[in-house]
Amino acid sequence: MPIFLWGVLPYVVALTLVAGTIWRYRYDQFGWTTRSSQLYESRLLRIASPMFHYGLFVVLMGHLMGLLIPKAWTDLVVSQETYHLVALGFGTLAGIATLLGIGLLIYRRRTTGPVFLATTRNDKLMYVVLVSAIVFGMIATLTGSHTPSGAEHNYRETVSVWFRSLIVFQPDVNAMAASTWQFQVHILVGLALFALVPFSRLVHAFTVPLHYLFRPYIVYRSRDPLPPTPSRGRVRGWDPVGTPDRDKGHR
Ligand code: HEM
Repeated sequence: MPIFLWGVLPYVVALTLVAGTIWRYRYDQFGWTTRSSQLYESRLLRIASPMFHYGLFVVLMGHLMGLLIPKAWTDLVVSQETYHLVALGFGTLAGIATLLGIGLLIYRRRTTGPVFLATTRNDKLMYVVLVSAIVFGMIATLTGSHTPSGAEHNYRETVSVWFRSLIVFQPDVNAMAASTWQFQVHILVGLALFALVPFSRLVHAFTVPLHYLFRPYIVYRSRDPLPPTPSRGRVRGWDPVGTPDRDKGHR
């Protein structure tokens, strides 16, 4: 069983994520959307959506650091106690913001009529898995540092070692099996979420319009006054194709 859960399943999920995303991109261009509900309600959305997305961004950055940077490297710079305290502080704050944000988003979805009507079964399944991933992540962070028998457990010596072993295709099944149940459940739910991504609204994460941050401003200005046409006087709107002289000196 451990071989399947920690040595086979992660690759099945990675393959599903990549192949499923390519398939969705090729066959469902019109469905590649957040299915935004901003038109129906924006007061709550304006608070809840950034709270969830920025919170999750910090959480995921923390994951990259905690999972990819070996403990031996950070030991050279900071003590394990300091590292743990800082990670716990930021992780818990970001986790609470993410959880509050998604809680508000789901409350809004349930209580705003048109938003609820626009919610599919696919969305509901996605919300259950997403919320479970976050909740079990919090449980792991807050209670997973000791095994049931009271022994110390440091996820950077189990989960992180396993995670990096996956990247080099030499899965260290035993490292993950030695972790606590809180982390094991959290990661299984996380894997379920990754498998759902290509088949849900979550695909929008791959096409965040980051170029909006860097594109030039759009300058809106009123049109230059048009010179009067001798026969018709000044006409608003587009000129018929081939109208002589109207464009001269303009644009
Ligand atoms: C298979 C992939 C994943 C792995 C290996 C993983 C691993 C971890 C680890 C090791 C922690 C503890 C961090 C700490 O205590 O400092 C954690 C916490 C957490 N995880 Fe994950 N996780 C995964 C996927 C996810 C996903 C998909 C989400 C949410 C969508 C998520 C949300 C959280 C949250 C909210 C916390 C608690 C706050 C925090 O410590 O940042 N995780 N996860």
